[in-house]
Amino acid sequence: MYIKIHRLFELLLESTSAQPEAVLGFSLAESPTLGDYLADLDPKLSLDWSGQSFNGLPELRQHVLTHAHLSEVCHIDDVLITAGTAEANFMSICQLVQLGDEMIVDVPGWPQPLVLGEAIGAHVKPLMRREENQWRFDLDDLARLISPRTKLIFLCNPNNPTGQILRQAELREVVRLAERVGAYVLCDEVYAGLEWQGPRVPSVAGLYERGISTGSVSKALGLQGLRTGWLICRDHKVVRDAIVMRENSSEIMNVMGEIIAEIAMRPARYAAAIAKARADGAQNLHLLDQFIQSRRELSWETPAAGLIGLCRLNLGMTGDELGKRLLGAPYRTFSIPGSAYGFPQHIRLGVGGGQAAKLAQGLAQLARCLDDIY
Ligand SMILES: Cc1ncc(COP(=O)(O)O)c(C=O)c1O
Repeated sequence: MYIKIHRLFELLLESTSAQPEAVLGFSLAESPTLGDYLADLDPKLSLDWSGQSFNGLPELRQHVLTHAHLSEVCHIDDVLITAGTAEANFMSICQLVQLGDEMIVDVPGWPQPLVLGEAIGAHVKPLMRREENQWRFDLDDLARLISPRTKLIFLCNPNNPTGQILRQAELREVVRLAERVGAYVLCDEVYAGLEWQGPRVPSVAGLYERGISTGSVSKALGLQGLRTGWLICRDHKVVRDAIVMRENSSEIMNVMGEIIAEIAMRPARYAAAIAKARADGAQNLHLLDQFIQSRRELSWETPAAGLIGLCRLNLGMTGDELGKRLLGAPYRTFSIPGSAYGFPQHIRLGVGGGQAAKLAQGLAQLARCLDDIY
């Protein structure tokens, strides 16, 4: 299997070398520091891994189920701790989808399943989310795309990049359609916990035996550098196949990632961290929403969850052209063009990163750039 670079990753690589002064599109909450956890860390902790469970620390797995409201439905052995949502998605897709199989992926959405599906030689069918329909997809479209050869339906819920949510009734309908052909449904739930209205999105692992929920501490808790996430599935073959695949790549989880994630997910700490991420995110989202409403060149569907959204440009210019101009002097501000998601007339804007992201500065530069274009 040969994996080709995706436009989104190309742009992220470019951004690190361009050294922008502001970023318009941070996708995670402000990150804590190691010092925030020192008091709870045991200096005598052995950094040997021997004798641990291949599934991950039991206490951490329990926290994962508790916060996803799955304790009543799932057992801790249904949880596998992974190197982020990325590894959980990777292992699930690579073990479930083989050459010639069909796989359905929501678009715009997280590019990873598109990249891997192509590398595997699977037939990847896009399930289009429609902007005129608040970036929802049509369940009739899904019904038409499903066939007996469909092995996996991959959905990003809450959706990256639009911030839109699939609620219980719709998810149940997805499951009903998948069940008819025995397909798995993988929901990338990395943004769960940052819903701006209503409860947390339901985890698909609780609704369906062949439902796989993936997530991590990266976004809502800002702990991306720990590389700690999970997959949850009641079908033990999925968990076991992932463990077998990992044995042939990184073998096991890293001890520090699991230990710190376990501390961060203890109920009291978790509640405080989520409350802060929500307060910061809501404040920045309000700022961004007001900004977009004040500019006739811009429009968007305000994200229902998460820290990013897709903004339409009503300019005689593509997102790539605007992004290039914005990254240059005097603006020196980084944004992700919608072409990274197959939508060239959009840019991805985000409200994460706390103070360090300098959102107000980035928006002032965007305003200046738009004024200069006119
Ligand atoms: C939808 C989605 N899935 C997965 C990832 C990877 O996250 P993690 O750090 O948990 O591997 C990201 C990161 O941007 C994401 O937005």
